[in-house]
Amino acid sequence: MPRLTFTRAVLAISVFGLAPQYLSAEQNDTQTELTQEARVLVARFADQLKPQLKHALQAGGPAHAVGVCAETAPAIARNLGIESGWIIRRASDKNRNPAAQADTWEQARIDAFKAAALAGKTQGLEYSEQTAEGFRYAKAQLTEGLCLACHGKQLDDSTSDALHRFYPEDRARGYELGEVRGIFSLLKPAGDE
Ligand code: HEC
Repeated sequence: MPRLTFTRAVLAISVFGLAPQYLSAEQNDTQTELTQEARVLVARFADQLKPQLKHALQAGGPAHAVGVCAETAPAIARNLGIESGWIIRRASDKNRNPAAQADTWEQARIDAFKAAALAGKTQGLEYSEQTAEGFRYAKAQLTEGLCLACHGKQLDDSTSDALHRFYPEDRARGYELGEVRGIFSLLKPAGDE
């Protein structure tokens, strides 16, 4: 076996094999940490929103709760964002809030989550990725019974009116149980990581 071949082989391993593996292990650590941070933020978002939504529903029914949700949900996202340095929002392919329309990256996640949900997967519908803009994380939000009063097929008149008042271009109706209503979408802007 000529020496050259051996040297080349060693070079090839160190340049194309070991070095990138070492780098990607480090990157993996960062990505795991960021994913974990994002998960905690999503859990905190949901843990703050849901009790307020339930309380508003009990206190005044869905028509009243629409107004609460309209202010509360974006405010929670904003406050968590200020505190954490992440940009936090919810997005949908059939959005209610005009600011919640999915961008291309988000739409791809929604499509994949929908396919997975159709195939029976309801847990762990999440995705994270390093992009040019920064580290992005998405987690599906599926409809539960509670959601259908405002996102279902049959809304009572007062709810429908309230929704129309706040969101004349509302597209977030007609859902059934267990469908992907939207995603929590988080971005840690590049340079802030
Ligand atoms: C009382 C009515 C009401 C109920 C019940 C309700 N929502 Fe909403 N939902 C709203 C309103 C109002 C908005 C727009 C406010 C905002 O930007 O978050 C909204 C927005 C959203 C969005 C952001 C994307 C978009 O379309 O604007 C998602 C995702 C969402 N809801 C999911 C759910 C899920 C899942 C449930 C059940 C756990 C639920 N909602 C229950 C009224 C409701």
